[in-house]
Amino acid sequence: MIKVTAKAPANIAFIKYWGKKDEALKLPLAGSISMNLDNIYTVTTVEFNRRLTDDRIEMVGTKMKSGEKQKVSEFLDRIRNIAKITDKARIKTKNNFPKGTGVASSASGFAALAVAAAKAAGLNLPEKELSILARLGSGSACRSIPDGFVEWLEGNSSQTSYAKSIFPKTHWNILDITIIVSRKEKKISSSLGHTLALESPFMAARINDLDQKIKKIKQAIGDRDFTTFGNITESDALNMHAVMMTSNPALIYWQPKTVEIMKKIIDYRDMGLETYFTIDAGPNVHIICQEKSLLKVKSMILTIKGIKQIIISRPGKGAEVTENHLF
Ligand code: DP6
Repeated sequence: MIKVTAKAPANIAFIKYWGKKDEALKLPLAGSISMNLDNIYTVTTVEFNRRLTDDRIEMVGTKMKSGEKQKVSEFLDRIRNIAKITDKARIKTKNNFPKGTGVASSASGFAALAVAAAKAAGLNLPEKELSILARLGSGSACRSIPDGFVEWLEGNSSQTSYAKSIFPKTHWNILDITIIVSRKEKKISSSLGHTLALESPFMAARINDLDQKIKKIKQAIGDRDFTTFGNITESDALNMHAVMMTSNPALIYWQPKTVEIMKKIIDYRDMGLETYFTIDAGPNVHIICQEKSLLKVKSMILTIKGIKQIIISRPGKGAEVTENHLF
């Protein structure tokens, strides 16, 4: 059978996905909005081979846990079912960023796997179907399939919950600066976090407001209105973390450094440097800024001690097939 390699970006959500109405199908409680990150990605090569007795999965630079391997094999089973094949697969995958730090490795990982494995199994799926497939691996992965700025439509069934591009990557030259505060893996995975979130008394309040927020932020992105866009982004991240902190048990993903950076961003904004932060299920902070502010933002970052790494990304394209095979 043929060998296929795909490259997929991570994405940063401006309106976050937190809480599911269907665990198994990964149907979200609300829609979400994101941007692909051109400098944070996964490359994955897949080949189905009838001589293999098991799926052989290798992640460059990391030892995969057996639970993770099983998740990948179950994902491959879905594809084998659709393609009506039984062959096991050889898979090699490589991230250009540290795993389990709140940088969304599951998003780029399952998006790249969906594209490579579907094609390697002989399927020729349109973008919508690939997004649905990626979602079944990890919810946020569905947003790493289409180009640029993306909306995940909540939907009420597997076939109606998928992501589509709302603006191409060339629409707006804003930047995401991911500040890596810690490389340690988080103790509570986001998958479990989604379930615990249902216990938070703040959950309903956040969800009730989201349709309105999604409408407003789409308008702001369309108008390239950075102030409105940034305020909604920052406020939704804080809303999501309020839900996390009031879950049972409480999920506090921040570290002291996380808060120090958030405060610095606010202080500098008060002094005229307009940037906003957003934070996923981890301690790392994403600074969102305009291209014209990059030098000043870099100087601001230099005043923060103890940062492990920064990754500067621009709006990125969606998942795609490439010829750079890993084996
Ligand atoms: C905080 O997509 O990792 O990054 O569907 O269980 O795999 P599963 O969860 P996942 O959740 C990501 C949550 C988030 C917010 C976001 O990216 O929207």
